[in-house]
Amino acid sequence: MGEGRTPMVSLDALARRWGLAGLWAKAEYLNPTGSYKDRIAAASMSRALREGYRGWIGTSSGNGGAAMSAYGVRAGLPGILLVLREAPQEKLASIAPYGVLLLSMDRMGPEVMAGLGQIAAAERLLLTITTHAHNPHGMRGADAIGTEIAARGGITQVYVPTGGGGLLVATARGLGAAACRAAVISTQPAGCAPIARTLTGELSHPSIDEWSTHISGLMLPRPPDGEAAVAAVRSSGGWGVPVADEDAWAAQDLLARTEGIFVEPAAALALAAVRQDVEQGRLGAADQPCVVLTGHGLKDLGRFTASDRRPTPTTTEEIPQRLTRWLQQL
Ligand SMILES: Cc1ncc(COP(=O)(O)O)c(C=O)c1O
Repeated sequence: MGEGRTPMVSLDALARRWGLAGLWAKAEYLNPTGSYKDRIAAASMSRALREGYRGWIGTSSGNGGAAMSAYGVRAGLPGILLVLREAPQEKLASIAPYGVLLLSMDRMGPEVMAGLGQIAAAERLLLTITTHAHNPHGMRGADAIGTEIAARGGITQVYVPTGGGGLLVATARGLGAAACRAAVISTQPAGCAPIARTLTGELSHPSIDEWSTHISGLMLPRPPDGEAAVAAVRSSGGWGVPVADEDAWAAQDLLARTEGIFVEPAAALALAAVRQDVEQGRLGAADQPCVVLTGHGLKDLGRFTASDRRPTPTTTEEIPQRLTRWLQQL
């Protein structure tokens, strides 16, 4: 349906502002359902058809669910999807049109995922959770993110927003397959950063009990692919960057206002990590990093629906005066 081969968009204004040799965005928000998960869904459903599964079952924080639902319909396979009750309205609403059996839970830890594995085996359903631990064949669909970034040439670091770790592992594998030597950087919300904090040396294993973040898609205190993600970052010469939720939101605004690109907060986290690394002198004039912009801004509009964000009521007579005032404050 047009997944993959997304553009590499150059972020010239921000590269100039931060004194970098270049700054690139892998525009994964341009996939058919608005996130990179379409690549994994396409690979998963191809396998389900090849191997004669009756349908599919999975969990999702929203993006994977929309992708599996769309590609499941396309493959003619019925699906059951468990989503987080608190997922952004836009993510849940964008799953509804496809007609899958949509169920919700408050939290979905490893026990739920293991339980679904048993149901999947008993019912001959493909388990479509987007991790290597549960759906290794499907995850191969994301390797091409790495090979496509490598094809650009000259990229020095790849910043990957990280939850369960699967996207990072696949991206690193793709970079490696294309003999690209870019360092892979794992960035996570500071309130839920088991992988990034293991990389900073603060934790010995990527697993935590207490967590808090509002960044949808990245709420995984016990990441299923955590150890593999840590190993992939280390072998690439990369590092981990925990980022405060507020900094991710600020980066989301900055990207929209300076480059005209609107992504969801999880994706903006990668840009916030670049900014943090520039400020700390970790990146400089010789560097040309790439941020993986994993999901579209329309996936999570919560911050933009407040009453003070509503259009200001006006009349045509008032417009010239409003325009003058607005231009003055730019
Ligand atoms: C927008 C977005 N970015 C990044 C990720 C992180 O991927 P992973 O859980 O494989 O680390 C997710 C996962 O759901 C996501 O939805």
